[in-house]
Amino acid sequence: MGNFSDLTMELEPDPPGTPRQRGFIDPRHAWHLKTVIKVSSVIGEKVLGISDPLEQNIEETPERLRKVEATLQTMETRGQLKYGDLTPLEFFEMVRAELFGLGPLDRFLENPEVSEIMVNGPYIIFVEQAGRMQESGHKFLDDEHVERIIRRIVRPIGREVGPSNPLVDARLPDGSRVNAAVEPCTLDGPSLTIRKFSENNLGLDDLVRLGSMSAAMRDFLSGIVAARRNIVVSGGTGSGKTTLINALSRFISDRERVVTIEDAAELQLSQRNVVRMESKKPTFDNPVSVSVRDCLVNALRMRPERILIGECRSVETLDMLQAMNTGHDGSMTTIHANNPRDTLSRLETLAMMSGLDLPVSVIRKQIAAAVHFIVQVSRLRDGSRRITHVTEIQGMEGDVVVLADIFLFEEEGMQGDKIVGRHRGAGNRPSCLDELERRGISLSPKIFFT
Ligand SMILES: Nc1ncnc2c1ncn2[C@@H]1O[C@H](COP(=O)(O)OP(=O)(O)OP(=O)(O)O)[C@@H](O)[C@H]1O
Ligand SMILES: [Mg+2]
Repeated sequence: MGNFSDLTMELEPDPPGTPRQRGFIDPRHAWHLKTVIKVSSVIGEKVLGISDPLEQNIEETPERLRKVEATLQTMETRGQLKYGDLTPLEFFEMVRAELFGLGPLDRFLENPEVSEIMVNGPYIIFVEQAGRMQESGHKFLDDEHVERIIRRIVRPIGREVGPSNPLVDARLPDGSRVNAAVEPCTLDGPSLTIRKFSENNLGLDDLVRLGSMSAAMRDFLSGIVAARRNIVVSGGTGSGKTTLINALSRFISDRERVVTIEDAAELQLSQRNVVRMESKKPTFDNPVSVSVRDCLVNALRMRPERILIGECRSVETLDMLQAMNTGHDGSMTTIHANNPRDTLSRLETLAMMSGLDLPVSVIRKQIAAAVHFIVQVSRLRDGSRRITHVTEIQGMEGDVVVLADIFLFEEEGMQGDKIVGRHRGAGNRPSCLDELERRGISLSPKIFFT
């Protein structure tokens, strides 16, 4: 498996007049894809005996693979097959991907260095590889080719995609998260975004090793999780929020009962007394819709000690704050915001969406009482992901929520195209230190001042 040798191909310059966001395919590349698709279709139908094979989700078995390989060899010997610029092995891998996989995307799915795949219409595929976003040079043949692969992804979970249902979330069997958007909601062809499920889950030690946080921050963060502080992880898209919650969750005691609620399950808890819940969007065969808030209201009847919500983005926010305030200490969630202060106003805005008509001052008090820490993660301009703030909410002063930075990331300059900097204590003593002590977690006060 996985014999795709090159990952990034050389990009042909777009011919003059090609729209920037559409790109193009050069005739030779198109010829290769056409041949592969045609051969795949014939082999699927004639050799594997599957009608309309490219529209099916065919399971890859050793026997089927052997048949494909043997057929290709026979065709080649008989002079029925031209590989063009491809090697026989590349050709075989491409046929395999068309028949059993996700076509041109298989090479990226198989490469553990690739964490995200972004298809902008058939001719522009970006990947994030080892933290770098780059155009891969690989292409689909045309819109229909992309749409066919999208159908393959969404069909097993009972979803349809097309003009009457142009925006779809789905998941690959391995847990990777997929979003597909097609006409009329996209202008330059079908779009597909895949966040690959990562097996080698990053732990706090890995994050220290990668420079995302310091060892002192690791000790502090694992301490506040064990001491059941409520934490909001805040950051932009793909900044590492879910990864951090997963890493922090390892410090939840096995004796505690946890309920997790997500739109698409990504949290991977190692504890046993865990109920994992997922919201439900209406599908073709099941029109029922269950929101994150519905799950949360239900979760409160499941006797949880902690509640983890994958992301607060709507009306569930107020319920989450209330749950944090009513005996579910140690709860965690994530939110899209750019800095800790921004996180507060975002929480406020979202909490006001609940329709309860609470005055801002009341909501603000709830936030100040419910949330103990905001941990800000960022994907910096060099592609690195860092924790930039660990900030404690220390209460209210008049109408203002009091924030105290405990740890910060300080940029010191550039080395080549890499940002150099260091994590340091911000000079504030966390007010939760006594609570940590009571729970047997003792930290040297020095770490907050160096
Ligand atoms: N500290 C880190 N260092 C390197 N890679 C990381 C780090 N944190 C996360 N990643 C990688 O970045 C990608 C995005 O991470 P993650 O899913 O945690 O982000 P997110 O903020 O939850 O994204 P979204 O906004 O889409 O929910 C993943 O591939 C993950 O493995
Ligand atoms: Mg996430």
